[in-house]
Amino acid sequence: MRIAVGADHVGYDLKDAVGGFLTRLGHEWTDFSPRVLDPEDDYPVVGSQVARAVAQGEFDRGILICGTGIGMCMTANKVDGVRAALCGDTFSAHSSREHNNANVLCLGARVLGVGLALDIVRDWLAAEFSTEERHHRRVTKMALVESAGSC
Ligand code: RB5
Repeated sequence: MRIAVGADHVGYDLKDAVGGFLTRLGHEWTDFSPRVLDPEDDYPVVGSQVARAVAQGEFDRGILICGTGIGMCMTANKVDGVRAALCGDTFSAHSSREHNNANVLCLGARVLGVGLALDIVRDWLAAEFSTEERHHRRVTKMALVESAGSC
């Protein structure tokens, strides 16, 4: 899988751990994070870059990391075609794929230990969008909200 990864300064260390894990799992990943740690590397910049790259089909999935994951998630979900999920547990991680067809995973580096974060990444990448009609109907309605403002 081709995965776009991005972190702000708070998520930087967890991003390196996630990147190493992705390599060990055999995925290709590109790091959109700033090369130098800087408290002014505000999450909307890298968050929107990763989100756009996923929405444009350059990558299969995106993973975004900041302190809580919240700012990254809010930012990514402003990009049309992105369904970003903030996950702090493995049930939410696989459900966000199975029910919501999430294409971006957001993690909170100040919230999660590395072990749990990697389990979340593993389960999120392994899970597939359900084939059940009701989930497709609901995701289609989300897209209508995006394009038309309501469903
Ligand atoms: C940066 O201090 C922090 O606000 C950011 O990493 C993130 O938690 C925002 O949602």
